[in-house]
Amino acid sequence: MGKKLLAYVIGRKLTKDLMSGILTCNCLGAGEFLTSTDPAWHEVSVKESVLAITSQQSTRIFLGTGFCRDQRWLQIATKVTVFAFQAVEMARMWPGVLRPMVARVIPTFQKLRAEVQNARDIINPIVEQRRRAKAKLAQQGEAPAPSLDALEWAEEFANGKKYDPAVLQLTITLSAMHNTTDFMTQLIYDLAGRPELVSELRKEIIGVRTEFPWNKAAIFNLKLMDSVMKESQRLKPTSLVSMRRIADTIIQLPDGLTVQKGDLVMVSTNNHWNQEVYENPDEFDPYRFYKMLDHPEWGSAAHMSSTSENHLGFGHGLWGCSGRFFAVAETKVALCHILMKYDLKLLGDVPPVITNGTFLSANPFGKIAVRRRQEELEL
Ligand code: HEM
Repeated sequence: MGKKLLAYVIGRKLTKDLMSGILTCNCLGAGEFLTSTDPAWHEVSVKESVLAITSQQSTRIFLGTGFCRDQRWLQIATKVTVFAFQAVEMARMWPGVLRPMVARVIPTFQKLRAEVQNARDIINPIVEQRRRAKAKLAQQGEAPAPSLDALEWAEEFANGKKYDPAVLQLTITLSAMHNTTDFMTQLIYDLAGRPELVSELRKEIIGVRTEFPWNKAAIFNLKLMDSVMKESQRLKPTSLVSMRRIADTIIQLPDGLTVQKGDLVMVSTNNHWNQEVYENPDEFDPYRFYKMLDHPEWGSAAHMSSTSENHLGFGHGLWGCSGRFFAVAETKVALCHILMKYDLKLLGDVPPVITNGTFLSANPFGKIAVRRRQEELEL
């Protein structure tokens, strides 16, 4: 039930409620980003700051206002995201048959299990309490009020079948936070070295927010921001390969190659840097996708949330990232707050991308300088 449940919660409920405007974009806003109200330049760790932002935003959407400032839950969400990916990397160093044994002894796995238990201690009583409240209402012949959070969407889908609500919440949190944090970290590095671009983006934010309240039209109309985000992701996707799949049937390719049933296949992201696809592919051109929006053939592929064979940042096809609409909206909201409230400055070169096998990660150790500025309009 796990994968289907995840697809229902993220692909159907979250995206539909976001797109239909039931979840407003100010649900995604959070108070003070980065560290402080200090108007003097000071250093911050980009990844740490971004992790704090994404955990608060995802928690606000998945679990509601009660949770998004609950430090105990935010700590669990952050630790699980970090430990789970460390654990996967460690497990990969061992042959498959030994992994269950390794998982019992390595401290990272133990820490991960402890955090999962902490999550159960928080989530299970809430789910139980909601189930009791619903049963009581049903006895009185009344329908419960619709609840706009992932706990409720999961209950709907499970429809009485057994599942682990805390593990589900942590899985959603993991899917939502890991890639988004990496993406936003790189984006901040890319922006910190481009003050002119930051002022162009501020103009766009002011124009859009003067015209629209926090709704999906505001998100849609942040078009330069969209282009900048897509360009940052073009130059640094999460991996050199995308669309990892296992063939469930024999596939005969036009060039004569046969993919056997059970073969692991993946698609290279090489087109991201291919000069036959993109002019000056090594150059960061903030307007690249903005200009492409009017292209008769490629216009629709120019949006950040669109996928194509030339931009596989969110994968492609039926199993492409189901959380991408949410990821785009939350990044835009976060960026509006960050750029309007802070000046950003690199402390040298852009911290280099870390390559690990096929994975490309924004540098987790990089710092930049920030200082609080007075935003021109209230967000
Ligand atoms: C910038 C942020 C993000 C990036 C770069 C990203 C990237 C990806 C990629 C490359 C895939 C594999 C797609 C494929 O194989 O075709 C994927 C899958 C997935 N992503 Fe994301 N993602 C992001 C944010 C999110 C968020 C915020 C959520 C949840 C709200 C999410 C949920 C998922 C899920 C559930 C899948 C698995 C899809 C499936 O197998 O059904 N992602 N993501």
